[in-house]
Amino acid sequence: MATTRSPVLGLLVLVCCLALLTEPATAGFNPSEFPNGFYFGSATSAFQTEGAANKSGRGPSVWDTFVHESPERILDGENADVAVDLYNRYKEDLKRMKDTGLNAVRFSISWSRLIPHGQIRAGINEEGVRFYNSLINEALKLGLEPFATIFHWDTPQALEDKYGGFLSPNIVADYRDYANFLFKTFGDRVRHWITLNEPWAYSAWGFDTGEFAPGRCSSWMRRACKAGNSATEPYIVAHHLLLSHATAVKLYRDNYEPTQKGKIGFTLDSYWFEPFSNSTKDIDATKRSIDFHYGWFMDPVTFGDYPRTMRDNVGDRLPKFTIEQSNMVRGSLDFLGVNYYSSRFAANVDYVDPLRLSYTNDAHRELRFEDSNGNSIGPEAGLTWLRVAPYGIRYLLNYTKDTYRNPEIFITETGVAHDNDTASYDEIIHDQIRIDYYDSHLGNISVAMREYGVNIKGFFAWTFMDNFEWSSGYTKRFGMTYIDYNRNLTRIPKDSSKWFSNKLLPKRETQTQTETQTEYKWSRPLGFQSYSSILEAEQTVQAGNLIGWGDYSNDSEGAHSVALVLVEKEGFDWSKLVVC
Ligand SMILES: *[C@@H]1O[C@H](CO)[C@@H](O)[C@H](O)[C@H]1NC(C)=O
Ligand SMILES: *[C@@H]1O[C@H](CO)[C@@H](O)[C@H](O)[C@H]1NC(C)=O
Ligand SMILES: *[C@@H]1O[C@H](CO)[C@@H](O)[C@H](O)[C@H]1NC(C)=O
Ligand SMILES: *[C@@H]1O[C@H](CO)[C@@H](O)[C@H](O)[C@H]1NC(C)=O
Ligand SMILES: *[C@@H]1O[C@H](CO)[C@@H](O)[C@H](O)[C@H]1NC(C)=O
Ligand SMILES: *[C@@H]1O[C@H](CO)[C@@H](O)[C@H](O)[C@H]1NC(C)=O
Ligand SMILES: *[C@@H]1O[C@H](CO)[C@@H](O)[C@H](O)[C@H]1NC(C)=O
Repeated sequence: MATTRSPVLGLLVLVCCLALLTEPATAGFNPSEFPNGFYFGSATSAFQTEGAANKSGRGPSVWDTFVHESPERILDGENADVAVDLYNRYKEDLKRMKDTGLNAVRFSISWSRLIPHGQIRAGINEEGVRFYNSLINEALKLGLEPFATIFHWDTPQALEDKYGGFLSPNIVADYRDYANFLFKTFGDRVRHWITLNEPWAYSAWGFDTGEFAPGRCSSWMRRACKAGNSATEPYIVAHHLLLSHATAVKLYRDNYEPTQKGKIGFTLDSYWFEPFSNSTKDIDATKRSIDFHYGWFMDPVTFGDYPRTMRDNVGDRLPKFTIEQSNMVRGSLDFLGVNYYSSRFAANVDYVDPLRLSYTNDAHRELRFEDSNGNSIGPEAGLTWLRVAPYGIRYLLNYTKDTYRNPEIFITETGVAHDNDTASYDEIIHDQIRIDYYDSHLGNISVAMREYGVNIKGFFAWTFMDNFEWSSGYTKRFGMTYIDYNRNLTRIPKDSSKWFSNKLLPKRETQTQTETQTEYKWSRPLGFQSYSSILEAEQTVQAGNLIGWGDYSNDSEGAHSVALVLVEKEGFDWSKLVVC
């Protein structure tokens, strides 16, 4: 480099060196590259795990109806009446998560378990309230930060019957009331709220292809659909999802955030897309692909309207935001949840049959596993659709930072599955595929944070236990814990859960040691208080010379109480402490 004469060449050489340096010496997951306070958790949803579907006062959701009325639309004809019985076994399962070294848990709340008829005025199910109180308290007691998803696809059937669920603007007020009830009841302890999980999947699979509940689509799309319109309904549903989200966020910010000090956002899924060839048409198709999938929701919450590419292609079938709605939707995220599983090549499609208008066809592109040179996007792992493309998550995160004003991000899902029909028990238990998958994805997440400054605060694996995989029934196993469905749902750790604990537990121990040695002298509980009084006390704490505080729930059945634990700096005068 010293002999370089041209300054331009010198710059180029420097850039190349930097590019080489951006790959860390060792690829894969190195926990020490993640800051203290980074959340490592696992994610789940109510319908896939809880069971007790029509017990303990729960009302049916569209998914209960779908699996019971059309078992032929579920690969193994199964339902989730029992699922993996999380409803009864959450204490032991949370304990397993804690023992794996996790410090956070993402779960979803079943709307129809709390509000069986969907609307508050028709009644609250107190048993449901007790269940979620106890789940949240247990998580906090174990040091698992609760991340609660408000809506994970399970619309109360009563609202579907009453006005068509998310097809109707009426859903917005009922969703707001439901969210309000959650903030009021659990918001003293839940500090991360996710309004929606994958609104893309709910809109596209529920109303365009009809493979998910409520299973609607145009008749030419799928014979099993009894009703629907793939040209219009996906867009209407997505619009009402966005308005519900924004309404709940406004409510939270106006009435709860100031005292509860939590954060609220939503979770989107996306592939990363690469062009099928370097032709301009395929490169445009790549941009359209990410707009139709990710931008459909990210553009409105960032800029207040749908992407230009969607307006151009969908025209009048794409709903419009009023100025008021646009202002409410824009900026309605404290954080973004990203679910990433795989990547695709996008190839342009010029002609679409005007008699077959649909969300899928409107994007004028075809998604492929191979590019025009026959290069694969990544190897197949377990499932045909799940090509492993770990660099895709890094590009998606980069793209998010650049395109959507650098939001705070949690990776709210990523993972890989075995197909129970083709993999042997041994392969499933010794899940090297999953270890490699998490290793390379966490490696790329770390690069996105450290080399490109993407603002990532946590990572959630999908998922801790095998469970009901929607229209695949129990045939696809995404867990780091095996569920033996023939032997009373026995939980058996797979190799990947041991891999996680080997990585994460040493980090937890180091953190605790540093804290005790360098800062904390001793701690004492100040009794049980409401959470908001703890937050007020925190102000006092920061002003005085107390250096820390924590909270934990008192483990009596469903108890609401939270303890304030103050940690004293040497020489602190306790008589000066004011607790509100
Ligand atoms: C209720 O659950 C039981 C199993 O616990 C199941 O046999 C039955 O079909 C369910 N009924 C409905 C309406 O979901
Ligand atoms: C497009 O061009 C880039 C850069 O030259 C190259 O790496 C990539 O393989 C090309 N893609 C295809 C599908 O040919
Ligand atoms: C992230 O994306 C930016 C802009 O697209 C690019 O310059 C950078 O090299 C990428 N970094 C990584 C680590 O992929
Ligand atoms: C990122 O993913 C690629 C494969 O897509 C892998 O080769 C590489 O090692 C990963 N990077 C890190 C830092 O783990
Ligand atoms: C999975 O495969 C095993 C045999 O390999 C079989 O006994 C079991 O019924 C299958 N299905 C589930 C959901 O476990
Ligand atoms: C099944 O497992 C649960 C939870 O561990 C336990 O309470 C129950 O007694 C078991 N049932 C049978 C029949 O073994
Ligand atoms: C927890 O609650 C129970 C019952 O409400 C009470 O008896 C017990 O003292 C509490 N524990 C602590 C540590 O305060």
